[in-house]
Amino acid sequence: MLVTRLIERKRDGGELTQMEWGQLVTAYGAGEVPDYQMSALLMAVFFRGMAHAETTALMEAMRDSGASLDFSGLAKSRLDKHSTGGVGDKVSLVLAPLVSALGVAVPMMSGRGLGHTGGTLDKLESIPGFRTDLTLDAAKAQVERIGCALIGQTGEIAPVDKRLYALRDATSTVDAIPLIAASIMSKKLAEGLSGLVLDIKRGSGAFLPDFDRGVELARLMIALGEANGCPVVALMTAMDRPLGRACGNVLEVEEAIACLHGEGPPDVMEVTYTLGAEMLVMAGVARGVDEARRRMEVCLSSGKAAEQLARIIEAQGGDASVVDDPARLPQARMVEFYSAPRAGVIARVEPRAIGRGITALGGGRRTMDDRIDATVGFVIRARPGDVVKVGEPIATIFTRDEAGLAAGMAALAEAITIAEEADPPLPLISHRITKDGVAVYESEPWVRTAEYPVYKGFGEQ
Ligand code: URA
Repeated sequence: MLVTRLIERKRDGGELTQMEWGQLVTAYGAGEVPDYQMSALLMAVFFRGMAHAETTALMEAMRDSGASLDFSGLAKSRLDKHSTGGVGDKVSLVLAPLVSALGVAVPMMSGRGLGHTGGTLDKLESIPGFRTDLTLDAAKAQVERIGCALIGQTGEIAPVDKRLYALRDATSTVDAIPLIAASIMSKKLAEGLSGLVLDIKRGSGAFLPDFDRGVELARLMIALGEANGCPVVALMTAMDRPLGRACGNVLEVEEAIACLHGEGPPDVMEVTYTLGAEMLVMAGVARGVDEARRRMEVCLSSGKAAEQLARIIEAQGGDASVVDDPARLPQARMVEFYSAPRAGVIARVEPRAIGRGITALGGGRRTMDDRIDATVGFVIRARPGDVVKVGEPIATIFTRDEAGLAAGMAALAEAITIAEEADPPLPLISHRITKDGVAVYESEPWVRTAEYPVYKGFGEQ
């Protein structure tokens, strides 16, 4: 295999065969193809795209570059959820315990935050002692024993994807839909899933803000999953404002725990219940979404979902007492209100500015190797459409020092726009995408939920 020939063919708009993609991935995994040649090929793909057969071949070769979870002895369905990421998205922390408490096996693999978006692994690791670096054998044994394991991409799972993703990050070739779809699905299909639910974010704070590109990504991931015996359903959800109120690692764990105690913000609960209903129906645990929702509500109000989170934390070495006493989580040194600089209507709460603000406070990553301060972040009470008075506290900054406080104030001033009037935000859940096509998602029950429940968290008693 002459790699220069493959690069030339891709550069000139041609296609590589299934065998060529397989050989290339194997040779790259064995260290026989240098990064500079792989970078050139990735850039050619970035500009020329990939035929469907090529994306399938790349995904399968990356999946097969490592081990897969084999759950053949397990009677339960195995389901996972993947979100394209955003700000304030703590749904996995609520969904995994909730759905696994209802009898679905959830081997959930998540990532770290990068750029303006947060990552589930960072949130989990803010719980004292919590380990996400389980071996595949340990993760499998835990799923079989308690129904759920929350892990990162270990060196065993799709190792070539791990290297290629880092290379793409360093060569500005992440943002190519076939590469994204192949990358995500190579890992998901190595989890031995019987179904997958996708949360594709849309809006200014999304990884792919453009609606059509989000749909394209969803459809490609659905096709890759379905062709490999893994049914996939995608929901398009809003990321033109943060999800929920808490943004920042520890703060989001606190809000997720509040959700499991029945005190979560309605938007977080609505996304959780809607994704969870898809999972329960796919797993055959509920006959339809209404039954699924009822079962989740009962599971939550009975305390079983919160107990399941405690079980997962304990199994992974963490301090499970945080579930009953979130104040045991590490706390920020400084807490300060941010007040509305003028009266009016909240027109925007811009997620990217919030995400960048968390990074400025030390709570986010600019590169994969950055260390983060899990305690910092924001709790933003104001939602688009709210009417506020001048001087009214609309957010809280959690930081470690005066410099962070100044950075936090500046980030909120940039993110929150108060105007005379506001355009309506995007619908929270707008579309449902399956192998059969894209349907408008009509139910918006959260809009009718009048008030947030009173949650005395975040040191605001
Ligand atoms: N997440 C992944 O795992 N891979 C990508 O390419 C993009 C997001």
